[in-house]
Formats: sequence, structure tokens, C-alpha cells
Amino acid sequence: MYDLIILGGGPAGYNAAERAAENGLKTLLFEGRALGGVCLNEGCIPTKTLLYSAKIYDYAKHSKEYGVSFDGATIDHNAVIDRKEKVVKMLVGGVGASLKKLGVEVVSEFAKIKGKSSAGIAVEAGGKEYVGTHLLICTGSEASVPPIPGLRESLKSGFGMTSREFLSNRQLPKELVVIGGGVIGLEMASYMCSVGVKVTVLEMMDYIAGPTDREISSTLQKNYIKKGVSFILGAKVTSIGSDCVNYELNGKTQSVKCDKVLISIGRRANTKDIGLENLGILTERGAIVTTDEMKTSVPNVWAAGDVNGKIMLAHTGYREGEVAVNNILGKSDRINYNSIPSVIYTNPEVAAVGETSESAKAKNLDVISQTLTMKYSGRYVAENEGGDGIVKLVVDRKHQTLLGVSMIGNYSSEIIYGAAIMIEKAMRVEQIKKLVFPHPTVCEIIREAINQIEF
Ligand code: NAI
Repeated sequence: MYDLIILGGGPAGYNAAERAAENGLKTLLFEGRALGGVCLNEGCIPTKTLLYSAKIYDYAKHSKEYGVSFDGATIDHNAVIDRKEKVVKMLVGGVGASLKKLGVEVVSEFAKIKGKSSAGIAVEAGGKEYVGTHLLICTGSEASVPPIPGLRESLKSGFGMTSREFLSNRQLPKELVVIGGGVIGLEMASYMCSVGVKVTVLEMMDYIAGPTDREISSTLQKNYIKKGVSFILGAKVTSIGSDCVNYELNGKTQSVKCDKVLISIGRRANTKDIGLENLGILTERGAIVTTDEMKTSVPNVWAAGDVNGKIMLAHTGYREGEVAVNNILGKSDRINYNSIPSVIYTNPEVAAVGETSESAKAKNLDVISQTLTMKYSGRYVAENEGGDGIVKLVVDRKHQTLLGVSMIGNYSSEIIYGAAIMIEKAMRVEQIKKLVFPHPTVCEIIREAINQIEF
């Protein structure tokens, strides 16, 4: 008998297990694939490892602009993948060691919910039944594979890849088509273009990077056009052939040839075959419905991470898992989805938190938007020859509080959490003006932009 049974050992699940065990709960964690989930094994961390190698290579190629010469720089894709595997192994080992140290029982099986018994909630794995007072579902998500003709066949033949296969693929294609200009598509396109692959991105919308501020997504697109990536916007992929991708643009069917295709058109919650029906757990569009306390429709059953389909980001999962555990422990806790930062690890990086000009307009909020070039930061100018970075602030006109920050330019990924704190704490412009930022840094750009706001 356990206090808490957790399904899934990704960021939401393993972090929740650690917090629960630390607080004295007898915790059992099921992970059928690998501890660390998609994030550590085939998502965030592998991608960042590849992108860092590409960044070093890009710096070498452009070093002359900084008075340094690295003639003949090369990149070895196989060595990059080897290093990625080393990094993943180390981090996954760290998660296992931490769970063990805290006394979490880990079972390397996929578990299925069986139902409720008088003793608690029952799950089954490997022919054995386990019972717990609470159940936390953290089964994550997987790449969406919609019924586009030829898509499934392409995945079978190896012509098509999702991010999973992409991140282990040792054979660089000559020409890659990326279907979907969202976060995954852009990060993978970034790596491939750096290592010399001809990349074409097909995107259904007439802009890339989904909910990103439009001025910023268009700056990002311009940067990648300069690096040689082709973007075909407004292009809806209709079928995949054996050596091409067919799409509809302005009512006409067109085709682009390639030797590999990356399918990055969103992810869907892993709710199939886990026995949700045995407890009658409510789902909506395939994701588990949860409250801001991470409660599901069934008492003592909680869900955190991608499986609730809210904001599919590892760090959202971490916080959701913690919220669930705190509530199980009787310490009332809620998640605030308004101040969750997001990052696109392209080069330049893009980061955002809170409202954009577009989302504020859609909600009819009365706001002031302030855009500033990153050239107001001395450090940015010193380190980014020809850089066109910008920061955009969205401020509530009446309350004079910061509602959103979007930025493009390197170090944005490391700066954005500061903006998230300002938004989470509903800081007013006058209060932010009194903060001291270190000089010279790129984060000073937020202070500069704040100083330019006039009500
Ligand atoms: P996404 O939702 O970000 O982008 C998918 C894109 O595909 C959209 O722009 C959509 O318009 C387009 N699309 C859909 N069907 C299409 C079709 N038939 N033809 C052409 N275009 C089509 O999904 P993505 O990039 O697969 O990422 C999935 C999830 O993973 C997201 O929730 C993302 O937040 C998360 N993620 C986060 C990362 C980060 O935080 N840095 C990195 C990678 C993934």
C-alpha cells in the first residue's frame, strides 16, 4: 500500500516523486521507457546539446567578424550525437540516483489503471497489482501523427522522422523538409542549417513560431532566411510521397523534393491505453481535464505535465507536479499559468512570458506596447556583430503593471525568468524602475525599455 502512485517518470513525475518522498509519502513511480521522459531522453536536453555544438560551429564560421580566425572549422555530426548520448546518460543516471536516495520505489514498467478498491486506487503492471491512496498521472505526450496520406508509411520507411528519430539520426540528409514551423521544427531546422543541410520549412499559418509576438517571429524568420533556410508559409501539407512532400498553397498543389522529412506538427497527450475509463477520468480533446490544483474529475486522482494538454513545457510539468504533491500533503497550492516563460533555442534565442501585443488585443486589454532594439545594451552590441535583437514589453495602462515580455537576441533564455518574476508579482513600472540591473549585461535591456514607457 502506497501513499502515492505516479505513472510516468518525466519532469512532472520524477520531480513530484522527489518532493513527495522528501515529505514522507511512501511513493511508487512507474516508468516504462526511461527515467527523465521525453525531456531528458529525446527532447529538451538532446536538442540543446546538438544546438550548442552548432552554435560553437557558427561562432567559428563567423569568428573573423570578431577579429579571430578559425579557418577550416568542421563539425562531426556523429561526434555530436555521441556527446548527446553521454550528456543524456549522465542526467538520466542523476535522476535515478536522486530517486533512490530519497527512497522512491521505481518500477520499470508501463502501468495501467485498474479501478478503485476499498483500500484505494489500483494499478496493474507486469501482472502485479499495486494500490495507493493517491494517483498522479504524468504520462506525457507524443508527436501528433495526423492521418495525412503517406505520413505513417514515411515513418515506417525512415523517410519521415519525428523529433524522437531525428535526435538519434546519425546520417545527415542533403535536403530536409520540416513540416511545421513551431518550436520543434525551428530548433531542428536551426541545427540542420548550421551543419550545412538544405532546409525547407512548410508552415500552414502565414507566420512561424505559433503564439510568439509577430514582430519577433518575423525577425527570427529573417535571421534564418539569411542563414539559408527556405520558408513556405500558408502551405498545408496534404500528402507525403517516397521522395517528396506535397502541399496546398493558394489552392494549388505543389511539391518539394527531399531525402528526409521531419514531422513537427504538434504533440498529443498520452492518454490511450492507461485505463482512464476504469475510473471515469474526464478528458477533453484527448487530454486529462485538470484544475489549477491539478485535480482531475476523480477524487484522489491528479494529473501533471503534458498529459493535461495545458502548456506542454517541462518546467510547467515540474511546477504542476509540485502543486499536486503540495495539495496531497494538505498544503493548499495553485499554479499560475500567466507567468510561465517559454524559450525557442534558435540562434538568436527567443524567449517570452505573459501577454504579447496580439494576445492582449485578442483579450481586449488596454495596454501599452513598448519595443526597443537590443542595441541599447552595450554588452549585446559588443557580442553580437550585426545583431537585430529586440525586446517588447506589454504594460497594463490602468494599473501600470507589466503583463508581458517577448525578446529575441542571445541570453534571452537566461533573462526571461527575471521578467517572469516581475509578472508573477504583478510589479508596477515604478517598482521595476527602482531595481538595479548588473552592468554591462543584456538583461539591462528590460530596464531600458521600462524607462521608455510613457503613460
Ligand atoms: P507546435 O504546435 O509548436 O507547432 C506545430 C506547427 O505545425 C504549427 O505552427 C502548425 O500551424 C503547423 N502545422 C500543423 N499541421 C500542419 C500541416 N498539415 N502542414 C503544415 N503545417 C502544419 O508543435 P511542435 O513544434 O511539434 O512542438 C510541440 C510541443 O513541444 C509544443 O507544445 C512545444 O511547446 C513543445 N516544445 C518546446 C520546446 C521549448 O520549450 N524550447 C522545444 C520543443 C518542443
